[in-house]
Amino acid sequence: MTRRDPCTELIHHAYRPPAGFEAPQVPVHKASTIMFANVAAMRARDWRNKTGYTYGLHGTPTTFTLEARIAALEGAEHCVLTPSGLSAIALVNQALLAQGDEVLLPVNVYGPSAEMARHELKRWGISHRLYDPMDPAALPALLGPKTKLIWLEAPGSVTMEFPDLPELARIARDHGVTAALDNTWGAGLAFNGFDLGAQVVMQALTKYPSGGGDVLMGSVCTRNAGLADQIKLCHMRMGLGVGANDVELVLRSLSTISIRYAAQDASARSLARWLTTRPEVSAVLHPALPDSPGHAHWQTHCTAAAGLFSALFDPRFSAAQVDAFVDALHLFKIGYSWAGPVSLAVPYDLQQMRGDHASTGHLVRFAVGFEDPLDLKADLAQALEIAFSS
Ligand SMILES: Cc1ncc(COP(=O)(O)O)c(C=O)c1O
Repeated sequence: MTRRDPCTELIHHAYRPPAGFEAPQVPVHKASTIMFANVAAMRARDWRNKTGYTYGLHGTPTTFTLEARIAALEGAEHCVLTPSGLSAIALVNQALLAQGDEVLLPVNVYGPSAEMARHELKRWGISHRLYDPMDPAALPALLGPKTKLIWLEAPGSVTMEFPDLPELARIARDHGVTAALDNTWGAGLAFNGFDLGAQVVMQALTKYPSGGGDVLMGSVCTRNAGLADQIKLCHMRMGLGVGANDVELVLRSLSTISIRYAAQDASARSLARWLTTRPEVSAVLHPALPDSPGHAHWQTHCTAAAGLFSALFDPRFSAAQVDAFVDALHLFKIGYSWAGPVSLAVPYDLQQMRGDHASTGHLVRFAVGFEDPLDLKADLAQALEIAFSS
């Protein structure tokens, strides 16, 4: 062969590193194009079969590895990755619902999931209804011929009620309705979503699997081959890919997920218990606390809890005072995500958010990070003093 130009040589260089490099860390494979040995090999490849590679969007060794590990965490057979937790919710809706169908959402569902139903699903001719997850007896009356999917969440976002998951899932199954669980709080650690009856389990990997507060990603898992095919096809047709550098970050953190989860659980419980002793606080919503709604279900089904809880302030305090309390915090920053190193606090207007909620008063949702719990307690104490002492 004639000598090639060095520029061509740089692209088509013959050197191959020796095989056999083995390390605990997973290599970062990034590609849009994946090359085939010949045309016949290209034509023979089926992108759905994850024993080989077709195109970057369908996966590389790096993304396949994270999918397999998340499936192991959730106790699933199949997993796909999505660019965020919210897009994992969207994927489940898109894969399993069609025009004319109805989806049920718990009244305490993650807020943007309800927004998706109110606006996007509605535009596609899919209706939704809210149900009270703490009243399973009322559920059968809401399940009609149009109902194809029910979302479960445990505990509910912000108000932290822990439902009877197996009972809700059983009712759905008896009516032929697919039960999908948002398992972001449980993270595959506090309980197993499939064992409790869910057929589809999604998670915002943004939270515990990442743990660093620097990645957005989601996963959708199933044990059922038929559901997995529906989800995988929709995932491909909608072009949902994730970046290998982000996958690398999640893979790097995943091996420490259980110790991070346990550490934040312990800190959150100690702060939650302490807040129950404070006169400014009328209730602390944390499923491991005996007075928290659904505590008995948490106790029956869970071995741990995430580092999240909400404090309901006495109704004699105004929204402005509760906001001032949050503003007076130094270590707790104001922001929405959780499971990262930094503790966070967000005030919510309970009446505006949940008109059906029996409690009055204003609520603050805390997400506990990795700071020393004694420092966090001191931070809460000084902010309570500043905001409520006058
Ligand atoms: C319960 C729950 N589900 C889903 C999500 C969405 O995750 P992401 O932020 O990755 O879209 C969140 C985010 O806060 C969440 O709290």
